Amino acid sequence: MMVRGTFSLVILTTILCIIGFSSHALKEDSFNDRKASTFMSQINSRKMFRGINIGNALEAPTEGAWGVYIRDEYFSIIKNAGFDTVRIPIRWSAHAKQSKPYTIAESFFKRVDHVINKSLEQGLITIINMHHYDEIMQNPTSHKERFLEMWRQIAERYKDYPEDLYFELLNEPHGELTDSVWNQILKEAISIIRKTNPIRKIIIGPANWNSVYNLEMLEVPEDPNIIVTFHFYTPFEFTHQGAEWVNPSPPVGRKWTGTEDEKNQIRRELDIAYEWSKRHDNITLFMGEFGAYSKADMESRARWTCFVAREAEKRGIAWCYWEFCSGFGAYDPIRKKWREELLDALVPRVEFYVSVETDHGSFTGEGWYEKGSYATIRFEEVKIGFPIAYILDHFEGLKAEDRIVDEKTVEVYVDEDRVVKAVWRKDYTLLILLIFILVCIISCVVIILYRKRG
Ligand code: BGC
Repeated sequence: MMVRGTFSLVILTTILCIIGFSSHALKEDSFNDRKASTFMSQINSRKMFRGINIGNALEAPTEGAWGVYIRDEYFSIIKNAGFDTVRIPIRWSAHAKQSKPYTIAESFFKRVDHVINKSLEQGLITIINMHHYDEIMQNPTSHKERFLEMWRQIAERYKDYPEDLYFELLNEPHGELTDSVWNQILKEAISIIRKTNPIRKIIIGPANWNSVYNLEMLEVPEDPNIIVTFHFYTPFEFTHQGAEWVNPSPPVGRKWTGTEDEKNQIRRELDIAYEWSKRHDNITLFMGEFGAYSKADMESRARWTCFVAREAEKRGIAWCYWEFCSGFGAYDPIRKKWREELLDALVPRVEFYVSVETDHGSFTGEGWYEKGSYATIRFEEVKIGFPIAYILDHFEGLKAEDRIVDEKTVEVYVDEDRVVKAVWRKDYTLLILLIFILVCIISCVVIILYRKRG
């Protein structure tokens, strides 16, 4: 009787244990149901940082005349390469009537609308300027009215466009457009634009080809939405060697090796802009053009480009490389590929380390990854050990951008150094089954012995 009671108790306890453990296991969320922890989505500051000019296109006498026609896909190519800004030089003066009211051709406006839209669609800050208005450089007095009237039309046309569209008044004022004459005209242009675009970002630059040495003479109107630009091609003999449009053209063969003297020359000039901005309420600076012509050797160009870009960034100066796919081109439009040396110089590849913490199991995927890519972490098994098993339960340290592929694989988004923790839980099912079998065997043995005795 006593043995029979003990036997029933053992069986009952074993069954209860099995039910208890398996329901505990079922309560755990399955991998598919488990949501990655939600993270605050990154705040997009919309600030200009790294840009590129699509030059030699719309500022040519007609688009295509200088070999560049802006293709829609250029904007995604630029965006995907890591740029946030595009500057589109435009020769409005070639498409406006010579006499009052200086009407800009509707067909040209439509083309510019399209280009701007394609750029904005990619989330790029889009700067349109007035480029190669050569006549105003020679004769500001007789071209001032036409200049202002063109801006009146442009401002009216784009007044309802998103704030990511910026206006830049005039590329590289020079010649008869001296500091004082330019100061006067730019003030008038800004007040015309402000009538229809009260808060749009307006970019202005000093005379003498947007030289840092003329910042001191630039009069900046009181307006919180003004950005000040300058262009940077120092040393000119290096960046413009063999340039056909420069007379006399600096001889080719000059290298830029990055000696301390060469670096200091660049630092000194950038400091002029930086110091000037500090003295003017830290007004936002924009290095709207910099680049080295393709007649210089690639190694020097890449070295110079990288140095200038980083030095500008150190001073908080946003920049725009001159230019995308023509003579200075960072992109080769024939091979449809970036010139890697220049792209790397402009937007350095950033790599982060993805590591895995785990108490059990083996996995692949730990290592260095490029920013913006996904690292695939894959465990070889989800269950190990005997008779107590370890089951891969879930991953900790995930972000909303990460992707859970299956129960042993996760794709980790690389935006910083990442640590993914694999959490395992103990599983007693097998052990209990073994105990149960053992108990059964023992019970059977006891019963047999008991019967034999009886
Ligand atoms: C001019 C281009 C020239 C570049 C570098 C730009 O502002 O518009 O024609 O290639 O400067 O000199």
